[in-house]
Amino acid sequence: MAFSSSSNPEELTFPEGFGWGASTAAYQVEGGWDADGKGPNVWDTFTHQGGDRVFRNQTADVACGSYTLWEEDLKCIKQLGLTHYRFSLSWSRLLPDGTTGFINQKGNCFLKIEGIDYYNKMIDDLLANGVIPIVTLYHFDLPQHLEDQGGWKTGAIVEVFDAYAQFCFGTFGDRVKLWITINEPNVLAVLAYEKGLFPPGVPNLGTGAYQTAHNMIKAHAKAWHSYDSLFRKKQNGQVSIALFSPWVEPSNPTSIADQEAAKRVMTMALDSFAKPIFIDGDYPAELKSRVAAMSKKQGYPSSRLPEFTEEEKKMIKGSADFFVIHYYTSALAQHQENSGGELNILKDIEVEIFPDPSWQVSHPGSWVRVVPWGLRKLLKYIKDTYNNPVIYITENGFPQGDPAPLDDTRRWEYFRQTIQELYKAIHLDKVNLQLYCVWSLLDNFEWTEGYSFKFGLYQVDFENPALPRVPYKSAMEYAKVIQNNGIKGSL
Ligand code: GAL
Repeated sequence: MAFSSSSNPEELTFPEGFGWGASTAAYQVEGGWDADGKGPNVWDTFTHQGGDRVFRNQTADVACGSYTLWEEDLKCIKQLGLTHYRFSLSWSRLLPDGTTGFINQKGNCFLKIEGIDYYNKMIDDLLANGVIPIVTLYHFDLPQHLEDQGGWKTGAIVEVFDAYAQFCFGTFGDRVKLWITINEPNVLAVLAYEKGLFPPGVPNLGTGAYQTAHNMIKAHAKAWHSYDSLFRKKQNGQVSIALFSPWVEPSNPTSIADQEAAKRVMTMALDSFAKPIFIDGDYPAELKSRVAAMSKKQGYPSSRLPEFTEEEKKMIKGSADFFVIHYYTSALAQHQENSGGELNILKDIEVEIFPDPSWQVSHPGSWVRVVPWGLRKLLKYIKDTYNNPVIYITENGFPQGDPAPLDDTRRWEYFRQTIQELYKAIHLDKVNLQLYCVWSLLDNFEWTEGYSFKFGLYQVDFENPALPRVPYKSAMEYAKVIQNNGIKGSL
């Protein structure tokens, strides 16, 4: 089709075979928190403790009930016509204490079978309906037993995660060909281990994020190598890690200091994970030198950012088969000298970030500013920085507040514009984007926001014990996009 600047909408058709999906995560939808021998995870513990850390002290004990209502979810997936469905495995549903000890132990077989059968059925049903499963091994829900032993703060977790990953590859990998090891280690490290907003709920300012991110990167790389050496030949699948990133622009576009500040945020948010994994096994030099200098100034004996050994660098370099990105919003950055006080990672890179006030919020009180064009810029950045990788977007979404109207016209306009930006990224910027997934299939338990943020394509009535799923207008519109492999729009 011809590119024109006219505002007359035209058919923007995506490349043949482009993937259209939706995503969920175990803790956010499954419920059945202690069903059939499932062990507790850190979110079970955290929500059961109360303490107003989660909206109205809500829990996901029941959530969308997907553990028993999978057939209802499948109906939604079929109604949308998804080509891909991304979900996560509940680690402690499969391995109640997080280790493979249980499944090896004779006499405890019943514990393993329940969890395995649940996911087997999901995978088999998806494949029987022509839907490709994308499976995340770990989406924020660390088994409590592992947290009790130090969790991501200890190096020992690297082996434990690898054993879990091998167990999953061995159990489901005959049918699952697309794996994501860890969901958003860059978000988890900050929210859980730096700020203490997510479980285990203990802030470790200045050190927690670096320490845990370091172990997550190693755990991911080790699992990738296990797949590569033990499973790939037979199973022929692919493994990656999902990274979250905003798009960041300088607050004052003509200020060199702000331009550099914006680059530093991208370095911290995305490159600190993507560069080791996709380029050379190590953190960005600027990050290393800045954190080292800041640590020295603050009297630390060594940098608060740990170092990879040469052997680890070799293991980490090249440990992903495709690039997975999650995008929700953008920000502006401004250089801000570190004048002391509380430690945090933005202070380490001497930046302040904030939204452009002209960007609308998705709903009052939301952290999501509506910036569809930021995604195109982010995709171009990934293309240019990481040698034009195959890119999968496995999360992008727009929350509504409570109550959320079924006629979510404004939200669909966001998705429509976003899909138009994806088209531009593919056709104008030549980005190798092959899949787009909406977060989320269902309204669900949105972590500390509880059920007050509605990200679903389907509304779930949490007051009704039957937990009925009802499509928003966006679901119907998305189904049309999938059917046409494209959208009406203009460039
Ligand atoms: C992501 C996370 C999802 C979902 C989404 C919306 O960071 O992976 O689980 O909560 O944000 O906030």
